[in-house]
Amino acid sequence: MKNPNFHPANDVALSPARETILDIVERGENPRRRFFKGSVAGTTVALMGGLTLDSLTNSANAAYTSPSPAATLGFSSVPVNLFTNGAADDKVTVPPGYSVSVLIGWGDPVSGGPQLDPTRASTEAEQVQQYGMNVDGMYFFPFATRGGLSNDRGLLAVNHEYTDEGILHHDTTLATKNITQAQVRTSQAAHGVSVVEVRKVGNAWSVVRPSIYGRRITVNTPMEIRGPAAGHDLMKTAADSTGTQSLGTLNNCAAGYTPWNTFLTAEENWNGYFGATTGATNATTGLVENDSTFAPTSLENRYGLNRNGFGYRWHHADARFNMNQNRNEPNRFGWVVEIDPFDPKSKPIKRTALGRIKHENAEFAIGPDNTFAVYSGDDERNDYIYKFVASAKYNPTNRAANKHLLDAGTLYVAKLNANGTGTWMPLTYGQNGLVAPMFNSQAEVLIKTRQAADVLDATEMDRPEWIAVHPTSREVYVTLTNNNRRGTSPASLNSPTTVAATARPPIDAANPRKDNKYGHIIRWREDGDNPGATTFTWEIFTLAGDSANTSTDTVANYQGNINGDDFGAPDGLWFDHDNRLWIQTDQQGDATGDWANIGANSMLAADPVTREVKRFLTSPKNCEVTGVTSTPDGKTFFVGIQHPGEDWSGSFTSKSTWPDSGINGPTRLNPTGAATTPTKPRAATLVITHNGGAKIGAGGAV
Ligand code: FEO
Ligand code: CA
Ligand code: CA
Ligand code: CA
Repeated sequence: MKNPNFHPANDVALSPARETILDIVERGENPRRRFFKGSVAGTTVALMGGLTLDSLTNSANAAYTSPSPAATLGFSSVPVNLFTNGAADDKVTVPPGYSVSVLIGWGDPVSGGPQLDPTRASTEAEQVQQYGMNVDGMYFFPFATRGGLSNDRGLLAVNHEYTDEGILHHDTTLATKNITQAQVRTSQAAHGVSVVEVRKVGNAWSVVRPSIYGRRITVNTPMEIRGPAAGHDLMKTAADSTGTQSLGTLNNCAAGYTPWNTFLTAEENWNGYFGATTGATNATTGLVENDSTFAPTSLENRYGLNRNGFGYRWHHADARFNMNQNRNEPNRFGWVVEIDPFDPKSKPIKRTALGRIKHENAEFAIGPDNTFAVYSGDDERNDYIYKFVASAKYNPTNRAANKHLLDAGTLYVAKLNANGTGTWMPLTYGQNGLVAPMFNSQAEVLIKTRQAADVLDATEMDRPEWIAVHPTSREVYVTLTNNNRRGTSPASLNSPTTVAATARPPIDAANPRKDNKYGHIIRWREDGDNPGATTFTWEIFTLAGDSANTSTDTVANYQGNINGDDFGAPDGLWFDHDNRLWIQTDQQGDATGDWANIGANSMLAADPVTREVKRFLTSPKNCEVTGVTSTPDGKTFFVGIQHPGEDWSGSFTSKSTWPDSGINGPTRLNPTGAATTPTKPRAATLVITHNGGAKIGAGGAV
């Protein structure tokens, strides 16, 4: 890695702008061919049996009818942010008539405790009292009032996906030094989940300090493991002979919530924190080395575990993350974790019935008879889309009765057929080839979820990110963010021995673009609009792209094919209460290369009926827009800005100083209260309101 600022490796590896000539040569393609427009488009059409991209995008298949009502997009589009004005454009921009401010950022106290001192390294003792790094998925839990639900007071549960280790430890040359156990503990404390109490006084939102609800959940918080995999031998470690009590959650990407008011946090790139070392050091550098003799099992390979990890090096200083010492510890990650934000003393629970993957989020759908499903995408190139259907129904009148509903049910994986139909295939032990020797129990099917789905020949997707369910129609949408191994040669498919993300599946109806630089969004409708159905119909909602880019390769790969504003790398996806589909993007965010015309990352709103897409927000430099939730009245949005200034070089602020630049937020204060020059960019959570009091997305200029 060029910098000691680490981030999920798949995003790094997949950033299309970073594709080098070596990548192209490596996959056996003549680079010059990329400049002959149309050469691959012919192949695309042929492989899809004559379907054109236009037909896929705009009609897809006659079987599909969207049941969702139309949405009002009442605001004026925000132009792309190409950073042509330098630091002045290193900011959040929203449409005329709207206001945006920073609610809380990395290092701010969640209740009491110290404020971040940006001029030095953080400590574990401070960080466990402070908002974690790099916000991601979240949910606003309103307090109950006599008249219903509060629109000005509640709890915000927020994920902290990963750390920028250089910024956290205040060391621009961290990678040249051994990591200490104290640094690992600080890093672990900067991960996980925050619960903060928030309230609105007048028109201003703030965090309540102190608050009995303010809480940090970290990589060292005691958790319970429940469901079919709990207690299996593969879940047992030296520290936990029961296989039911674990420590911590990590790489908490997107989220979800249950109708019984608990938070679901999804463990995504957890594999990157593990490695293998004997503790030996390099004779020249003195640095602890990874164990070159470590041989991953097929299970480990399929989840991307290896001796190196992503570069966090926790395994050098914390035996729990050293697979030479704790071979089963990785099996205790990759789950959806349920947290009760209203009970600060409650123990988070890992729900193994929902499967072990790189969970992007966990999205509920409830039918009229209270049958419910939880959807989750596995965000890896060529991995799958899953659905858990609980055995029992949700009980709307008895919260306690719902407490362990997520422990029993059927986990399914999706097959999307070329004719627009689809099937949910059960990952059930003893059925469909899920038998010995690889699978000896339902516990083993769940611990090896990816391998079980391989056996069932599930549809390999272009990195499924968030899944969003329409609040009334139950229509389901998923973002497929990109896939630089789609349609490349030689072709290969996943098998239970595949190393994660190394397959090269051909294009298919659901993933129709070779290389898929800009991503797309698919939607489906369960048969009977029943969350428990085992068949569905689907279509492509939109292919993202750059409508101004006609210079290279094929129409299929490069041109915008969307109704409205351009975007790429869709990731966050969420419905508000008025049918607007909100899309958040995760690309390099610096307006270079493939993103020269799209610029900063953004948040956009789409109408499910017309498919019109309008850009609502543009971001600071080198960040991701991720995480969105609202008050019940839809008049306050909370939105996350993750990793501003990523890929800094030499100085932490080489790319961005947001928000401590003072744009959209206060100039950061040092511990004595004096203003300082910004020293570090910080991920933060925004508050967005409409100046005329309209719902977000509905109102325009006032
Ligand atoms: Fe953490 Fe797939 O985004
Ligand atoms: Ca994401
Ligand atoms: Ca990202
Ligand atoms: Ca992403």
